[in-house]
Amino acid sequence: METFQTLLANKLSDALAKAGLPTAGELTPATDARFGDYQTNAALVLGKQRGENPKALAEKILADIDISDLCEPPTVAGAGFINFTLRSDAVAKKAGELLPDERLGVANAKSTKKIVIDFGSPNVAKPMHVGHIRSTVLGDALARIASFLGHEVIRDNHIGDWGTQFGMVIYGWKNLLDRQSLQRDPLAEIVRIYKETNEKATSDPQVREACRQELVKLQAGDKENIDIWNECVAFSMQDFEHVYRLLDIRFDIQCGESFYNDRLPAVVDRLLKSGIGEISEGAVCVFFRDIPQLVDRPCIIRKRDGGFNYATTDVATVDYRINDLKADTVWIVTGAPQILHFQQIFEIARREGYKADFRHITHGSILGEDRKLMKTRSGENVPLRELLDEACKRARKIIEEKNPDLSEEDKIDIAQKIGIGAVKYADLSQYRMTDYVFSWDRMLSLQGNTAPYLQNAYVRIRSIFRKAGEPAPKIDKLILRDPSEINLAKRLCQFAEIVPQVLNDFRPNILANYLFELANSLHTFYEACPVLKSDEPVRSSRLALCDLSGHVLQRGLDLLGIKVPEKM
Ligand code: ARG
Repeated sequence: METFQTLLANKLSDALAKAGLPTAGELTPATDARFGDYQTNAALVLGKQRGENPKALAEKILADIDISDLCEPPTVAGAGFINFTLRSDAVAKKAGELLPDERLGVANAKSTKKIVIDFGSPNVAKPMHVGHIRSTVLGDALARIASFLGHEVIRDNHIGDWGTQFGMVIYGWKNLLDRQSLQRDPLAEIVRIYKETNEKATSDPQVREACRQELVKLQAGDKENIDIWNECVAFSMQDFEHVYRLLDIRFDIQCGESFYNDRLPAVVDRLLKSGIGEISEGAVCVFFRDIPQLVDRPCIIRKRDGGFNYATTDVATVDYRINDLKADTVWIVTGAPQILHFQQIFEIARREGYKADFRHITHGSILGEDRKLMKTRSGENVPLRELLDEACKRARKIIEEKNPDLSEEDKIDIAQKIGIGAVKYADLSQYRMTDYVFSWDRMLSLQGNTAPYLQNAYVRIRSIFRKAGEPAPKIDKLILRDPSEINLAKRLCQFAEIVPQVLNDFRPNILANYLFELANSLHTFYEACPVLKSDEPVRSSRLALCDLSGHVLQRGLDLLGIKVPEKM
């Protein structure tokens, strides 16, 4: 099923060919609804290219265009824009086709890829905190959308489970551990011993040296240290898993940093052999002398003391993902501070001859009300577990007020959907590079561009069907008379245009904003058009329109990882 955008673009290129003109410009949704639904700048682009009058070119294109089944007669505006307004019977027909369509008109991508998506990726021995929301929620939404578009997706949690912090953790474990506290709250105890050791090590060179020794022993495979490390990783994984369950996030593989340990020596050998790496002051480095922003930022892949680091692991992940997993595309979702790191890694991959498409998808930060990085009152990172519990608690309060008669079971379920949905949506509705202020009141509001507002729009549709006591009617064409009905149906037809767009620059906020506008159109429609009280055949058509709106809202939110309740 083709979208209106595709249908019109095809008609336009036919018309250009008939007029003896090359394909040019773009056909896009109209920027101003007063002028129509779609527009093209083809005549403007051609005018510039050929030094001809764009208005005259527009007339020439339109002379031969054959779109009377889709549009009202197109008009030329401004310097030479061509505007198209869809005919309401074309909209009624297309919306009718969407009614029984599981995919709601969304086509599979033309060429499907095998994509590894590296997202979330927290570090062990620390609880997951607010800083992890963005990568986790954004990566999950992109994975859902890519899968829906037919790509083969491998979700990989690249956990930071290896590194110098373990020298301190192991020292702390052996010297400071309180077994009872460990039983009560393992992660808190691990964080405590790590912090205390860190403080001791800063003031006492002997402790510092002891920590280094523990790390060396761990890296050499010392049994006792490996056992402690394993236990710490397992405790951390329990915390992560709890958060992922709450967030409804899953991974296909969790190849953390330690997974690559035994591959690192070969990586360094290979880079040395190929000449991509070189020895500099005793370390093995890759230089980027031809890349201005990296000129004085060599990538160290083996330290002078023989140790490997974060970058070495990431070079090894490239091999694993391309050679072993057979991916042709890799998306890595992290905060903006890692931009230079991944420029280096991707450049090394390019020099090694990897042809795959590597993308670093970055995001900004979450700020507290004071516009600084969000922290607890004592200046700590806010643990994600606590934050999500708080979200559900606050959502529960809203439900108690709105609908106190719900059963306890329903309340728990709905509070979770609203609370978690609000946190996810607050993130995904922002452009990923923008820093945003975390505000409970704003994200949980039933008004405005929020998850609860969209969930409520869905619930309203469900309550119409509960009231009607009948399922959605099976019809194949809608009857669209009121402008608000036509407008709503047009929006529903746009869903198939919006979803693939998200992946162009990895912007789930495009889908979020679309859903917000859809909910607004739905609202206007309710104001203008009675549904259950109208006469047949309009009643059935309106019920079908509501049903389709519900499906699009539900599917759209699902692609963002957000669930809808049936009531609230
Ligand atoms: N663990 C890292 C962090 O917390 C993110 C890992 C991202 N992925 C990667 N392949 N390096 O910053």
